[in-house]
Amino acid sequence: MGSLDLTGVELVIGGQQILEQMTVQFRAGELTAVGGPSGSGKTSLLSVAGGLLQPTHGETAYAGKPLWQGDGDPRPEVAFILQVYGLVPILSARENISIALRARGLPPAEADERADTELARVHIGDLGDRQVEELSGGQMQRVACARAFAVGAELVLADEPTSELDELNRDHLMSLLHSEAARGAIVVVASHDPAVVAAADRHIALDEGELIDDVEPVAAGRRHSGW
Ligand SMILES: Nc1ncnc2c1ncn2[C@@H]1O[C@H](COP(=O)(O)OP(=O)(O)OP(=O)(O)O)[C@@H](O)[C@H]1O
Ligand SMILES: [Mg+2]
Repeated sequence: MGSLDLTGVELVIGGQQILEQMTVQFRAGELTAVGGPSGSGKTSLLSVAGGLLQPTHGETAYAGKPLWQGDGDPRPEVAFILQVYGLVPILSARENISIALRARGLPPAEADERADTELARVHIGDLGDRQVEELSGGQMQRVACARAFAVGAELVLADEPTSELDELNRDHLMSLLHSEAARGAIVVVASHDPAVVAAADRHIALDEGELIDDVEPVAAGRRHSGW
């Protein structure tokens, strides 16, 4: 498994400097939290890192291959959990996950079955038939997480995945994100939540588009034993 490398990345939109020049590496097997106040550039950083946006300057690469593919479509190795969920409202929870799996070549019956398994892992196994527009915010958020976990991506980029969750579900989701890292994925989580930052292996912070901190808590060594 390779690393995700941002090298001298800058983002300018409409003359506004959204991301100042930054160089940062995200490693396989590691859960990194990206903190910083609202408007500091967390979503923009994930969008550039996942290949949705082209950096104005600099390069983004996963395992040496550029993330930007020229059209804003992410590479198949990337799974996003978007801040606005990115679900299809008129489809059921199961269908939202199943279509992502079918798009990756899984037969429909198997895709549906995997979707149900993933919904159960985020404790909404009973809501598979429910249309997404009839779910609560926290339930939608968990469908979006289940979809990202279902595809077994090498890069899992999660934007405020716990913002609508209660404490128990937040802790459970963090343990699922750690499981993604434990199977070798690169996991990057943008969050305001100090509990998310505390549970990460590493924490970087943004302020006004600038990378101001890069901390690997001592506790991270414990999680990394065996790697
Ligand atoms: N498409 C865009 N066009 C112009 N400005 C943008 C665009 N997207 C984001 N911005 C601006 O870039 C800055 C960073 O936005 P971003 O969404 O990355 O912040 P954030 O840290 O994710 O904030 P939040 O915690 O509120 O989600 C903000 O000032 C925002 O207004
Ligand atoms: Mg954001």
